[in-house]
Amino acid sequence: MPTLTVITREGEERELEGEAGLSVMEVIRDGGIDELLALCGGCCSCATCHVYVDPAFADMLPPIGPDEDDLLDSSSERNATSRLSCQIPFDDKLDGMTVTIAAED
Ligand code: FES
Repeated sequence: MPTLTVITREGEERELEGEAGLSVMEVIRDGGIDELLALCGGCCSCATCHVYVDPAFADMLPPIGPDEDDLLDSSSERNATSRLSCQIPFDDKLDGMTVTIAAED
């Protein structure tokens, strides 16, 4: 199974095995990291699944959709590597990717 490294808000690094077909948000949540609230359950309407993605993997991610872009714009913590983790399908080509959970707005 592909591996996802998650850096929590406290700076703790956790390595999770993710089932291909889940979203990055689901991999994080199923891995027991509950600080990623993901309140809308992945419907792209809450922005509480905000992460920073390793720039080395940026080209392998689906482009940011208009709804995701609007939601990220509402966050004061947005930076150039920001994504909503529910909008990233996790699969083998993302094996070894690191995401950092963004600060809470
Ligand atoms: S879980 Fe709500 S936008 Fe991702």
